[in-house]
Amino acid sequence: METDAAPTVAPFPPALIAPGTAGGTWVALLDAEALQPGAMRRVTVGELDLLLAHTPAGILVTDDRCPHMSAPLSIGSLEGCVVDCPLHHGRFDLCTGNPVRMPTTGGLDPEGVYHQAWSPSGGAPKVDPPGLKAEARRLTRVRRFRYYPARVVQGVIEAVLPTSGG
Ligand code: FES
Repeated sequence: METDAAPTVAPFPPALIAPGTAGGTWVALLDAEALQPGAMRRVTVGELDLLLAHTPAGILVTDDRCPHMSAPLSIGSLEGCVVDCPLHHGRFDLCTGNPVRMPTTGGLDPEGVYHQAWSPSGGAPKVDPPGLKAEARRLTRVRRFRYYPARVVQGVIEAVLPTSGG
């Protein structure tokens, strides 16, 4: 019997492949029909909390951890390829792996360049008194996403996961 065309899986920058996937195994994650265009879902496999996102470029699988301080992006919002983190409102491009807006706390971008704190209201940002907490925020570096290779087989989204993650 003929089936509908499988949803597209998006390419990702090869340098951003998740560690351990070279020797990993394909694992079934979710029925593709449960991830409509524009949707995000968390799927947990062993110790891995995965983010499945259906962007205009296709389906991507990465960690359900904000590249800033690990908040679950699956409960954020997705607009095109850009996910907005619910914790500090950083925005990250799932299609390139790069931040497009730094978190309200400021900190270091992936290149190690410092960015000031900011406020969504446009007013003066809350600033920590000098000390370890302020230093921790200043030194926290936003990283790029790491991706798990994905495919859709007979209507099921699968991804290569590190063997130790399953
Ligand atoms: S944890 Fe996502 S922006 Fe801070």
